[in-house]
Amino acid sequence: MSSDVFYVTTPIYYVNDKPHIGHAYTTILADVLARYNRLLGCPTFFLTGTDEHGQKVQQAAIKNGISPQQHCDDTVVRFQELWEKLEITHDDFIRTTEPRHKQVVQGALQDLYDRDEIYRADYDGWYCVTCERFFTEKDLVDGKCPEPGCNRAVERIRESNYFFRMSKYQDWLIQHITDNPTFIQPDFRRNETLGFLRKPLGDLCISRPKSRLAWGIELPFDADFVTYVWFDALVNYISAIGYPGDMESFRKWWPASYHLIGKDILTTHTVYWPTMLKAMGVELPQAVFAHGWWLAGQSKMSKSAGNVVNPMTMAETYGVDPFRYFLMAEMTLGQDASFTEQAFVKRYNADLANDLGNLASRVIKMVRRDLDGSFPSACSAGPDEQDLVDATLGAVGHMESYLSAMQLDRALSEVQAAVREGNRYFDKMAPWALAKQGDREALARTLYSGAECLRIVSGLLYPVMPEKMAELRRALGLAGDELEPNVARLSTWGNLPTGRPLDDIKALFPRVDTKKTAQPKPKQKKAKKKTQAVVELIDIEDFSKVTMKTAKVLEAAVVPDSERLLKLQVQIGAQQRQIVAGIAKYYAPDDLIGSTVVVVANLKPAKLMGVESNGMLLAAKSGKALKLVTVDGELPTGASVG
Ligand code: ME8
Ligand code: MG
Repeated sequence: MSSDVFYVTTPIYYVNDKPHIGHAYTTILADVLARYNRLLGCPTFFLTGTDEHGQKVQQAAIKNGISPQQHCDDTVVRFQELWEKLEITHDDFIRTTEPRHKQVVQGALQDLYDRDEIYRADYDGWYCVTCERFFTEKDLVDGKCPEPGCNRAVERIRESNYFFRMSKYQDWLIQHITDNPTFIQPDFRRNETLGFLRKPLGDLCISRPKSRLAWGIELPFDADFVTYVWFDALVNYISAIGYPGDMESFRKWWPASYHLIGKDILTTHTVYWPTMLKAMGVELPQAVFAHGWWLAGQSKMSKSAGNVVNPMTMAETYGVDPFRYFLMAEMTLGQDASFTEQAFVKRYNADLANDLGNLASRVIKMVRRDLDGSFPSACSAGPDEQDLVDATLGAVGHMESYLSAMQLDRALSEVQAAVREGNRYFDKMAPWALAKQGDREALARTLYSGAECLRIVSGLLYPVMPEKMAELRRALGLAGDELEPNVARLSTWGNLPTGRPLDDIKALFPRVDTKKTAQPKPKQKKAKKKTQAVVELIDIEDFSKVTMKTAKVLEAAVVPDSERLLKLQVQIGAQQRQIVAGIAKYYAPDDLIGSTVVVVANLKPAKLMGVESNGMLLAAKSGKALKLVTVDGELPTGASVG
């Protein structure tokens, strides 16, 4: 596989469908691959667009009382606006109604007709309007459309049409697929196509009489017909890059590195398209990669079921970058994946708010507070940093290898592991204690190492979350060209520039309240509690068993996977302790740092969500409000309360 240039395509989407999460997914995937390749310094071309001919567009236009072209011009905007919103960096957007495309389709048809690759014959068979495909009697499954997931009623059609001699390429195609094991990916899709090719391959009907369908590209050799949409649409992959008018550009990019598609359009891309190209004398694409299906929970997304996820709404509600991240991290390429807002929020809170966002705010806040706002000097890694360096640089290597194996989800989970190691390293080194002890050198090394992890991780995640990662990199003191990661600099430790003042940074990924997204629970009737009239009285001895002290909060963080719990490091006199408190809904971790609270100091240790707690914070609660108990004025920590 030549890897000196990278050319990636998405399907061109049917213009009159409303864009949904599936369209967003393929396009974001292409964008992420394009961005990675650009970072690797590989000349990259990323193509997307819309498929604008065919019966459905014609029907919709008639219904709306406008011309089909007007209908396309009106609806294409929805895709263009969505791609803008989702930070898609396509190099071209092709519409099949553009003259530059129509010309190429007509030129190819004329050439194939002249060389007897196309012939006229009477056709008698079945047609699926939705798939816009013809089927023979034996293709049908229970008399219905055999396309995976379609199963709609088909129409009987008898008419004269033009045919492409696809059948004659059957043996050649089988050979090509067998000789080029990476041509169809993943493997099981290759087997699916080979299975399909075990049956005799028919010729392909490539025309529609205008009497039935006028909205298409007119056949150059017979004005009574238009071109079958697929024979028109597939050609976009070469017409957009200059075939055959600008062969210099065409040769630069072709053959495509990847045609990314969903599993629904496997046959058109791995049978029709290769045979068309073969007949045209054009080299085949290097790879067709078919990804799986996004399901709404466990069910198929469909307009009729009303469960289609709107990508625009997701991006507006939770931010573009977290949405991009979720789609890339959640789907194992090739397999189906389930989308629910709950799963989205869970991953968002875990990976982005608790892990990445937390590490970023810990490092930056402490540099500003305890290191006069900038890193004094670069620090090489010592034995304490070894695990962190291994996890972080390991993620760089994994990113490259998993990406070339199209295992983006695995690459991202390695990056996430590095972030978690960053937080673990922080907990282990306890920089808040180093600050307290005045060990500036150790403190600087700890914060610098945390920041190095963030610099590298933000570089690896940049193609997935370009805006948020630029924000993070800016906060680390990177500027100008340095904002875009440079691969060589990513693979070495100790590159973060020093001496640059760090600005305060807003929470990168504010935690999402899961209550807002929780499934409504069936209402339970609450037994009305009787108000307790009698308060039990205690002796002074009972009270004196409880030791309460003032404490200062040094560090606070959300407990992973918990909506309620914060993990605090507190100073009680000469002692430092970890206390877990159920106050996450009332206090942000940063609000607490530096404040003086009152704690029960002689409580037996307990584990909350697996995290050890040595003590309890005192708080006053009324209805939905909660306030921590503090002392009225300055007092040293460890002062007894009673
Ligand atoms: O088929 N999950 O266009 P189309 C994942 N115009 N991906 C999905 C999806 C889902 N639930 N639903 C759609 C066409 N997709 C033709 C293509 S190409 C020359 C012509 C994505 O608007 C996936 O990429 O029906 C799928 O292949 C594509 O949208 C189909 O888009
Ligand atoms: Mg479709």
